[in-house]
Amino acid sequence: MKTSVQINSKIKSFNKTLSIPGDKSISIRLILLASQANGKTKISNLLESEDVMSTIRSMRGLGIKIAKRNRVYEINGAGLNGYNYKKNLVINAGNSGTFARLFCGAVVKSDKVIRIIGDRSLSKRDFSRIIKPLKLFGVSFKSNSNHLPIKIIGTNYLRPIYYEEKKGSAQVKSSIMIASLNSPGETVIKSIPSRDHTELMFKHCLNIPINIKKNKKFDIIKIKGQHNYKGFNYIVPGDISSASFFIVLTILSKNSKLLIHNVNINKSRSGIIEILKKMNANILIKNKRKYNGETIGSIFIKSTQNLKSINCPKSINTKAIDEFLIIFLVCAKAKGNSVFKGLAELRNKESDRLKIASRFLKMIGIKVEEKLDSLKIYGNPNLNLNKKYVVKNYLKDHRVFMMSCIAALVFGGDFKILDKSSINTSFPGFLKILKKLGASIK
Ligand code: S3P
Repeated sequence: MKTSVQINSKIKSFNKTLSIPGDKSISIRLILLASQANGKTKISNLLESEDVMSTIRSMRGLGIKIAKRNRVYEINGAGLNGYNYKKNLVINAGNSGTFARLFCGAVVKSDKVIRIIGDRSLSKRDFSRIIKPLKLFGVSFKSNSNHLPIKIIGTNYLRPIYYEEKKGSAQVKSSIMIASLNSPGETVIKSIPSRDHTELMFKHCLNIPINIKKNKKFDIIKIKGQHNYKGFNYIVPGDISSASFFIVLTILSKNSKLLIHNVNINKSRSGIIEILKKMNANILIKNKRKYNGETIGSIFIKSTQNLKSINCPKSINTKAIDEFLIIFLVCAKAKGNSVFKGLAELRNKESDRLKIASRFLKMIGIKVEEKLDSLKIYGNPNLNLNKKYVVKNYLKDHRVFMMSCIAALVFGGDFKILDKSSINTSFPGFLKILKKLGASIK
Protein backbone atom coordinates (compact mmCIF):
# COMPACT_ATOMS: atom_id res chain seq x y z
CA MET A 1 0.00 0.00 0.00
CA LYS A 2 1.17 3.53 -0.77
CA THR A 3 2.46 5.26 2.33
CA SER A 4 2.38 8.83 1.04
CA VAL A 5 -0.04 11.15 -0.76
CA GLN A 6 0.53 13.59 -3.62
CA ILE A 7 -1.45 16.81 -3.75
CA ASN A 8 -0.76 19.13 -6.65
CA SER A 9 -3.88 21.21 -7.04
CA LYS A 10 -5.87 23.46 -4.75
CA ILE A 11 -9.34 22.33 -3.72
CA LYS A 12 -12.17 23.89 -5.80
CA SER A 13 -15.03 25.83 -4.17
CA PHE A 14 -17.38 23.63 -2.15
CA ASN A 15 -20.67 23.98 -0.29
CA LYS A 16 -21.24 20.87 1.82
CA THR A 17 -22.48 19.37 5.08
CA LEU A 18 -20.47 16.89 7.14
CA SER A 19 -20.40 14.86 10.32
CA ILE A 20 -17.13 14.16 12.11
CA PRO A 21 -16.27 10.94 13.99
CA GLY A 22 -16.48 10.74 17.79
CA ASP A 23 -14.25 12.65 20.17
CA LYS A 24 -11.00 10.82 21.01
CA SER A 25 -10.56 12.20 24.54
CA ILE A 26 -14.13 11.29 25.43
CA SER A 27 -13.95 7.83 23.79
CA ILE A 28 -10.84 6.82 25.77
CA ARG A 29 -12.23 8.15 29.06
CA LEU A 30 -15.55 6.36 28.58
CA ILE A 31 -13.92 2.96 28.11
CA LEU A 32 -11.69 3.40 31.16
CA LEU A 33 -14.50 4.63 33.39
CA ALA A 34 -16.98 2.02 32.12
CA SER A 35 -14.46 -0.72 32.96
CA GLN A 36 -14.78 0.17 36.66
CA ALA A 37 -18.57 0.60 36.69
CA ASN A 38 -20.93 -1.96 38.17
CA GLY A 39 -22.81 -3.41 35.19
CA LYS A 40 -23.09 -2.60 31.54
CA THR A 41 -22.24 0.64 29.73
CA LYS A 42 -23.41 1.25 26.16
CA ILE A 43 -21.50 3.70 23.99
CA SER A 44 -22.65 4.90 20.57
CA ASN A 45 -20.51 6.74 18.03
CA LEU A 46 -17.31 5.66 19.78
CA LEU A 47 -14.29 6.78 17.76
CA GLU A 48 -12.86 3.78 15.90
CA SER A 49 -9.22 4.79 15.63
CA GLU A 50 -5.97 3.12 16.71
CA ASP A 51 -5.71 5.03 20.02
CA VAL A 52 -9.19 3.90 21.01
CA MET A 53 -8.56 0.34 19.80
CA SER A 54 -5.37 0.24 21.95
CA THR A 55 -7.59 1.22 24.87
CA ILE A 56 -10.13 -1.53 24.15
CA ARG A 57 -7.45 -4.18 23.61
CA SER A 58 -5.70 -3.23 26.84
CA MET A 59 -8.85 -3.26 28.94
CA ARG A 60 -9.70 -6.70 27.55
CA GLY A 61 -6.25 -7.70 28.81
CA LEU A 62 -7.43 -6.73 32.31
CA GLY A 63 -10.37 -9.11 31.98
CA ILE A 64 -13.00 -6.58 30.85
CA LYS A 65 -15.56 -7.89 28.34
CA ILE A 66 -16.16 -5.46 25.50
CA ALA A 67 -18.44 -6.29 22.55
CA LYS A 68 -19.76 -4.35 19.58
CA ARG A 69 -23.44 -4.96 18.78
CA ASN A 70 -25.25 -3.01 16.06
CA ARG A 71 -22.63 -0.24 16.12
CA VAL A 72 -22.93 0.13 19.90
CA TYR A 73 -20.00 -0.80 22.17
CA GLU A 74 -21.07 -2.68 25.28
CA ILE A 75 -18.66 -2.75 28.18
CA ASN A 76 -19.23 -5.03 31.15
CA GLY A 77 -17.76 -3.13 34.06
CA ALA A 78 -16.01 -5.08 36.82
CA GLY A 79 -16.61 -2.48 39.56
CA LEU A 80 -13.90 -0.55 41.39
CA ASN A 81 -10.68 -2.57 41.49
CA GLY A 82 -12.38 -5.49 39.80
CA TYR A 83 -9.72 -6.16 37.16
CA ASN A 84 -8.65 -9.76 36.75
CA TYR A 85 -5.31 -10.51 35.10
CA LYS A 86 -2.05 -12.42 35.52
CA LYS A 87 1.02 -10.75 36.97
CA ASN A 88 3.57 -9.24 34.57
CA LEU A 89 0.80 -8.32 32.16
CA VAL A 90 2.10 -6.18 29.26
CA ILE A 91 -0.09 -3.31 28.11
CA ASN A 92 0.75 -1.80 24.73
CA ALA A 93 -0.54 1.78 24.62
CA GLY A 94 0.62 2.24 21.01
CA ASN A 95 0.71 5.96 20.21
CA SER A 96 -1.77 7.07 22.87
CA GLY A 97 -0.45 9.38 25.59
CA THR A 98 -3.96 9.90 26.89
CA PHE A 99 -4.66 6.20 27.30
CA ALA A 100 -1.24 5.38 28.83
CA ARG A 101 -1.43 8.18 31.39
CA LEU A 102 -5.08 7.73 32.35
CA PHE A 103 -4.62 3.96 32.52
CA CYS A 104 -2.00 4.36 35.26
CA GLY A 105 -4.65 6.12 37.34
CA ALA A 106 -7.05 3.21 36.81
CA VAL A 107 -4.72 0.52 38.18
CA VAL A 108 -3.47 2.20 41.36
CA LYS A 109 -5.08 -0.52 43.48
CA SER A 110 -4.03 -3.43 41.24
CA ASP A 111 -1.16 -4.98 43.15
CA LYS A 112 0.09 -7.32 40.38
CA VAL A 113 2.86 -5.77 38.30
CA ILE A 114 1.81 -4.30 34.94
CA ARG A 115 4.38 -3.32 32.30
CA ILE A 116 3.34 -0.51 29.96
CA ILE A 117 4.98 -0.10 26.56
CA GLY A 118 4.27 2.14 23.56
CA ASP A 119 5.48 3.07 20.09
CA ARG A 120 8.60 5.13 19.29
CA SER A 121 6.79 8.46 19.67
CA LEU A 122 5.11 7.55 22.98
CA SER A 123 8.41 6.15 24.31
CA LYS A 124 9.95 9.61 23.95
CA ARG A 125 7.24 11.28 26.02
CA ASP A 126 7.44 12.25 29.67
CA PHE A 127 5.74 10.10 32.31
CA SER A 128 7.20 11.86 35.37
CA ARG A 129 4.11 14.09 35.19
CA ILE A 130 1.89 11.19 36.29
CA ILE A 131 4.47 9.14 38.19
CA LYS A 132 4.99 12.01 40.65
CA PRO A 133 1.36 12.42 41.77
CA LEU A 134 0.51 8.69 41.62
CA LYS A 135 3.46 7.89 43.91
CA LEU A 136 1.86 10.19 46.49
CA PHE A 137 -1.17 7.85 46.49
CA GLY A 138 1.23 5.03 47.45
CA VAL A 139 1.76 3.50 43.99
CA SER A 140 5.21 2.14 43.01
CA PHE A 141 6.86 2.59 39.62
CA LYS A 142 9.94 1.31 37.85
CA SER A 143 10.79 3.26 34.76
CA ASN A 144 13.41 4.03 32.23
CA SER A 145 14.10 7.56 33.60
CA ASN A 146 10.43 8.50 33.50
CA HIS A 147 9.86 7.10 30.01
CA LEU A 148 8.20 3.94 28.74
CA PRO A 149 8.51 1.08 29.30
CA ILE A 150 7.33 1.54 32.88
CA LYS A 151 6.24 -0.98 35.49
CA ILE A 152 3.41 0.02 37.78
CA ILE A 153 2.59 -1.76 41.03
CA GLY A 154 -0.57 -0.64 42.77
CA THR A 155 -1.32 -0.92 46.46
CA ASN A 156 -4.11 -1.85 48.82
CA TYR A 157 -3.06 1.00 51.10
CA LEU A 158 -3.96 4.00 48.98
CA ARG A 159 -4.19 7.42 50.58
CA PRO A 160 -5.86 10.54 49.15
CA ILE A 161 -3.64 13.37 47.95
CA TYR A 162 -3.49 17.13 47.51
CA TYR A 163 -1.80 18.02 44.21
CA GLU A 164 -1.05 21.20 42.29
CA GLU A 165 -1.22 20.54 38.54
CA LYS A 166 0.76 23.40 36.99
CA LYS A 167 1.11 22.35 33.34
CA GLY A 168 -2.53 22.74 32.35
CA SER A 169 -2.49 19.04 31.46
CA ALA A 170 -5.86 17.30 31.32
CA GLN A 171 -4.07 13.97 31.14
CA VAL A 172 -2.35 14.57 34.49
CA LYS A 173 -5.52 15.91 36.09
CA SER A 174 -7.59 13.00 34.78
CA SER A 175 -5.05 10.37 35.81
CA ILE A 176 -5.22 11.71 39.39
CA MET A 177 -9.01 11.93 39.26
CA ILE A 178 -9.31 8.31 38.13
CA ALA A 179 -6.84 7.23 40.83
CA SER A 180 -8.94 9.04 43.43
CA LEU A 181 -11.90 6.75 42.65
CA ASN A 182 -10.15 3.85 44.39
CA SER A 183 -8.62 5.87 47.19
CA PRO A 184 -10.30 6.44 50.58
CA GLY A 185 -10.98 10.00 51.72
CA GLU A 186 -10.94 13.20 49.70
CA THR A 187 -8.44 13.96 46.93
CA VAL A 188 -7.94 17.63 46.10
CA ILE A 189 -6.43 18.94 42.87
CA LYS A 190 -5.54 22.56 42.26
CA SER A 191 -5.14 22.70 38.52
CA ILE A 192 -4.67 25.14 35.70
CA PRO A 193 -7.91 24.84 33.68
CA SER A 194 -7.76 22.23 30.90
CA ARG A 195 -10.31 20.09 29.05
CA ASP A 196 -12.90 19.03 31.62
CA HIS A 197 -14.45 15.88 30.15
CA THR A 198 -13.46 13.76 33.16
CA GLU A 199 -15.07 16.23 35.58
CA LEU A 200 -18.27 16.27 33.49
CA MET A 201 -18.44 12.47 33.30
CA PHE A 202 -17.87 12.11 37.07
CA LYS A 203 -20.72 14.52 37.68
CA HIS A 204 -23.24 13.69 34.96
CA CYS A 205 -22.69 9.97 34.22
CA LEU A 206 -21.18 8.44 37.34
CA ASN A 207 -22.74 10.60 40.09
CA ILE A 208 -19.41 10.72 41.93
CA PRO A 209 -19.28 13.19 44.86
CA ILE A 210 -17.21 15.90 43.15
CA ASN A 211 -16.94 19.57 43.99
CA ILE A 212 -15.37 22.05 41.57
CA LYS A 213 -14.57 25.68 42.30
CA LYS A 214 -13.49 27.67 39.29
CA ASN A 215 -11.16 30.58 40.02
CA LYS A 216 -9.71 32.90 37.41
CA LYS A 217 -6.41 31.08 36.98
CA PHE A 218 -7.05 27.65 38.48
CA ASP A 219 -9.74 25.14 39.46
CA ILE A 220 -10.03 23.40 42.81
CA ILE A 221 -11.40 19.89 42.31
CA LYS A 222 -12.41 17.79 45.34
CA ILE A 223 -13.39 14.14 44.93
CA LYS A 224 -14.59 11.69 47.56
CA GLY A 225 -13.22 8.24 46.71
CA GLN A 226 -14.46 4.65 47.00
CA HIS A 227 -17.87 5.51 45.66
CA ASN A 228 -19.20 2.70 43.46
CA TYR A 229 -21.09 3.69 40.34
CA LYS A 230 -23.35 2.02 37.79
CA GLY A 231 -22.91 1.50 34.05
CA PHE A 232 -24.38 4.22 31.85
CA ASN A 233 -25.29 5.07 28.25
CA TYR A 234 -23.42 7.65 26.19
CA ILE A 235 -23.47 8.97 22.62
CA VAL A 236 -20.04 10.40 21.77
CA PRO A 237 -20.19 13.82 20.07
CA GLY A 238 -17.94 14.74 17.11
CA ASP A 239 -14.31 15.66 17.81
CA ILE A 240 -13.51 19.36 17.42
CA SER A 241 -9.83 18.50 16.96
CA SER A 242 -10.73 16.52 13.84
CA ALA A 243 -13.25 19.16 12.71
CA SER A 244 -10.57 21.85 12.96
CA PHE A 245 -8.86 20.69 9.75
CA PHE A 246 -12.07 21.26 7.79
CA ILE A 247 -12.77 24.56 9.55
CA VAL A 248 -9.41 25.90 8.37
CA LEU A 249 -9.76 24.31 4.92
CA THR A 250 -13.00 26.25 4.42
CA ILE A 251 -11.69 29.55 5.79
CA LEU A 252 -8.66 29.45 3.50
CA SER A 253 -10.49 28.20 0.35
CA LYS A 254 -12.24 30.48 -2.13
CA ASN A 255 -16.06 30.89 -2.15
CA SER A 256 -16.73 27.86 0.04
CA LYS A 257 -19.18 26.99 2.79
CA LEU A 258 -19.28 24.08 5.20
CA LEU A 259 -21.69 22.97 7.91
CA ILE A 260 -20.28 20.46 10.40
CA HIS A 261 -22.96 18.78 12.50
CA ASN A 262 -22.81 17.48 16.03
CA VAL A 263 -19.41 18.74 17.21
CA ASN A 264 -18.39 18.97 20.87
CA ILE A 265 -17.83 22.70 21.37
CA ASN A 266 -17.20 22.45 25.12
CA LYS A 267 -15.52 25.77 26.10
CA SER A 268 -12.43 23.97 27.37
CA ARG A 269 -11.93 22.52 23.86
CA SER A 270 -13.09 25.21 21.46
CA GLY A 271 -10.15 27.63 21.73
CA ILE A 272 -9.69 27.29 17.96
CA ILE A 273 -13.06 28.97 17.39
CA GLU A 274 -12.20 31.77 19.84
CA ILE A 275 -8.85 32.34 18.12
CA LEU A 276 -10.15 32.21 14.55
CA LYS A 277 -13.04 34.54 15.36
CA LYS A 278 -10.55 37.06 16.77
CA MET A 279 -8.76 36.77 13.40
CA ASN A 280 -12.00 37.71 11.56
CA ALA A 281 -12.92 34.21 10.39
CA ASN A 282 -16.54 33.62 9.31
CA ILE A 283 -17.69 31.02 11.86
CA LEU A 284 -21.17 30.63 13.27
CA ILE A 285 -22.40 28.14 15.90
CA LYS A 286 -25.88 26.76 15.31
CA ASN A 287 -28.22 24.47 17.22
CA LYS A 288 -26.27 24.67 20.50
CA ARG A 289 -27.37 22.17 23.17
CA LYS A 290 -26.18 20.41 26.34
CA TYR A 291 -25.47 16.71 26.63
CA ASN A 292 -24.13 15.17 29.87
CA GLY A 293 -22.53 18.52 30.69
CA GLU A 294 -20.83 18.81 27.27
CA THR A 295 -21.92 21.51 24.80
CA ILE A 296 -22.75 20.28 21.32
CA GLY A 297 -23.48 22.33 18.23
CA SER A 298 -23.16 22.63 14.48
CA ILE A 299 -20.35 24.78 13.11
CA PHE A 300 -21.02 26.83 9.98
CA ILE A 301 -17.91 28.17 8.23
CA LYS A 302 -17.45 30.44 5.23
CA SER A 303 -14.30 31.39 3.29
CA THR A 304 -12.70 34.51 4.72
CA GLN A 305 -10.60 37.03 2.76
CA ASN A 306 -9.67 39.70 5.30
CA LEU A 307 -7.94 37.63 7.99
CA LYS A 308 -5.99 39.58 10.57
CA SER A 309 -3.13 38.52 12.82
CA ILE A 310 -3.50 37.66 16.50
CA ASN A 311 -1.55 38.21 19.70
CA CYS A 312 -2.94 35.07 21.29
CA PRO A 313 -3.80 35.35 25.01
CA LYS A 314 -2.02 32.57 26.95
CA SER A 315 -5.28 31.75 28.71
CA ILE A 316 -6.56 30.16 25.47
CA ASN A 317 -3.57 27.79 25.11
CA THR A 318 -4.96 24.73 26.88
CA LYS A 319 -8.29 25.12 25.05
CA ALA A 320 -6.61 24.82 21.65
CA ILE A 321 -3.58 22.72 22.51
CA ASP A 322 -4.03 20.14 19.71
CA GLU A 323 -5.11 22.71 17.13
CA PHE A 324 -2.11 25.05 17.00
CA LEU A 325 -0.52 23.40 13.96
CA ILE A 326 -3.63 24.10 11.90
CA ILE A 327 -4.21 27.55 13.45
CA PHE A 328 -0.67 28.53 12.37
CA LEU A 329 -1.71 28.01 8.72
CA VAL A 330 -4.36 30.70 9.13
CA CYS A 331 -1.70 33.03 10.61
CA ALA A 332 0.49 32.38 7.55
CA LYS A 333 -2.25 33.88 5.35
CA ALA A 334 -3.34 36.68 7.74
CA LYS A 335 -2.36 40.33 7.48
CA GLY A 336 0.25 41.19 10.12
CA ASN A 337 2.37 39.28 12.60
CA SER A 338 0.84 36.73 14.95
CA VAL A 339 2.37 35.92 18.33
CA PHE A 340 1.87 32.83 20.50
CA LYS A 341 3.48 32.50 23.95
CA GLY A 342 3.64 29.90 26.71
CA LEU A 343 3.53 26.99 24.26
CA ALA A 344 6.38 24.82 25.61
CA GLU A 345 3.92 21.92 26.00
CA LEU A 346 3.67 21.72 22.20
CA ARG A 347 7.18 20.28 22.25
CA ASN A 348 5.90 17.33 24.32
CA LYS A 349 3.20 16.07 21.97
CA GLU A 350 3.37 13.16 19.49
CA SER A 351 6.30 15.14 18.03
CA ASP A 352 7.91 18.52 18.80
CA ARG A 353 5.11 20.46 17.16
CA LEU A 354 6.64 23.90 17.76
CA LYS A 355 9.79 22.91 15.88
CA ILE A 356 7.85 21.19 13.10
CA ALA A 357 5.47 24.13 12.69
CA SER A 358 8.31 26.58 12.30
CA ARG A 359 10.17 24.27 9.87
CA PHE A 360 7.02 23.79 7.81
CA LEU A 361 6.17 27.48 7.69
CA LYS A 362 9.74 28.36 6.67
CA MET A 363 9.59 25.70 3.96
CA ILE A 364 6.54 27.39 2.42
CA GLY A 365 8.25 30.80 2.55
CA ILE A 366 6.76 32.26 5.74
CA LYS A 367 9.07 34.11 8.10
CA VAL A 368 8.88 32.82 11.68
CA GLU A 369 10.71 33.41 14.93
CA GLU A 370 10.76 30.31 17.14
CA LYS A 371 11.81 30.57 20.78
CA LEU A 372 11.75 27.98 23.56
CA ASP A 373 8.03 28.42 24.19
CA SER A 374 6.83 30.94 21.63
CA LEU A 375 6.28 31.48 17.94
CA LYS A 376 5.96 34.65 15.89
CA ILE A 377 4.51 34.23 12.40
CA TYR A 378 4.87 36.93 9.75
CA GLY A 379 1.65 36.58 7.74
CA ASN A 380 1.47 36.96 3.98
CA PRO A 381 -2.08 37.48 2.60
CA ASN A 382 -0.73 36.86 -0.94
CA LEU A 383 0.75 33.47 -0.09
CA ASN A 384 0.50 31.24 -3.17
CA LEU A 385 2.82 28.28 -3.71
CA ASN A 386 4.12 26.76 -6.94
CA LYS A 387 7.24 24.79 -5.98
CA LYS A 388 7.73 21.15 -5.01
CA TYR A 389 7.57 20.25 -1.32
CA VAL A 390 8.15 17.04 0.59
CA VAL A 391 6.79 16.59 4.12
CA LYS A 392 8.68 13.83 5.88
CA ASN A 393 7.70 11.35 8.51
CA TYR A 394 7.94 13.26 11.82
CA LEU A 395 7.56 10.49 14.39
CA LYS A 396 4.35 9.55 12.58
CA ASP A 397 2.50 12.57 13.95
CA HIS A 398 -1.08 12.36 12.61
CA ARG A 399 -1.74 16.06 13.05
CA VAL A 400 1.38 17.02 11.07
CA PHE A 401 0.16 14.86 8.17
CA MET A 402 -3.36 16.33 8.22
CA MET A 403 -2.12 19.92 8.56
CA SER A 404 0.18 19.39 5.57
CA CYS A 405 -2.70 18.12 3.41
CA ILE A 406 -4.75 21.22 4.25
CA ALA A 407 -1.78 23.51 3.45
CA ALA A 408 -1.35 21.84 0.05
CA LEU A 409 -5.07 22.16 -0.75
CA VAL A 410 -5.30 25.87 0.07
CA PHE A 411 -1.86 27.30 -0.76
CA GLY A 412 -1.11 25.30 -3.94
CA GLY A 413 2.29 23.84 -4.87
CA ASP A 414 3.22 20.26 -5.62
CA PHE A 415 3.24 18.33 -2.33
CA LYS A 416 4.38 14.85 -1.44
CA ILE A 417 3.31 14.09 2.13
CA LEU A 418 4.71 10.97 3.78
CA ASP A 419 3.20 8.81 6.44
CA LYS A 420 -0.40 8.48 5.38
CA SER A 421 -1.11 5.73 7.92
CA SER A 422 -0.49 8.14 10.83
CA ILE A 423 -4.12 9.31 10.47
CA ASN A 424 -5.29 5.96 11.84
CA THR A 425 -4.31 7.23 15.30
CA SER A 426 -7.17 9.71 15.49
CA PHE A 427 -8.99 10.05 12.18
CA PRO A 428 -8.89 7.09 9.76
CA GLY A 429 -11.59 8.65 7.51
CA PHE A 430 -9.76 11.98 7.04
CA LEU A 431 -8.77 11.52 3.38
CA LYS A 432 -12.19 10.12 2.44
CA ILE A 433 -13.91 13.25 3.74
CA LEU A 434 -11.43 15.50 1.94
CA LYS A 435 -12.19 13.67 -1.31
CA LYS A 436 -15.93 14.05 -0.66
CA LEU A 437 -15.34 17.81 -0.51
CA GLY A 438 -13.71 17.60 -3.93
CA ALA A 439 -9.99 17.40 -3.07
CA SER A 440 -7.79 15.70 -5.64
CA ILE A 441 -5.42 13.43 -3.71
CA LYS A 442 -3.25 10.69 -5.21
C1 S3P B 1 -5.73 15.12 26.14
C2 S3P B 1 -5.08 16.17 26.71
C3 S3P B 1 -4.04 16.96 26.04
C4 S3P B 1 -4.09 16.76 24.53
C5 S3P B 1 -4.22 15.31 24.17
C6 S3P B 1 -5.51 14.74 24.74
C7 S3P B 1 -6.74 14.39 26.93
O1 S3P B 1 -2.77 16.56 26.49
O2 S3P B 1 -2.95 17.30 23.91
O3 S3P B 1 -4.23 15.14 22.76
O4 S3P B 1 -7.55 13.65 26.36
O5 S3P B 1 -6.73 14.55 28.16
P1 S3P B 1 -2.13 17.17 27.86
O6 S3P B 1 -3.01 16.79 28.95
O7 S3P B 1 -0.80 16.51 27.98
O8 S3P B 1 -2.02 18.63 27.63
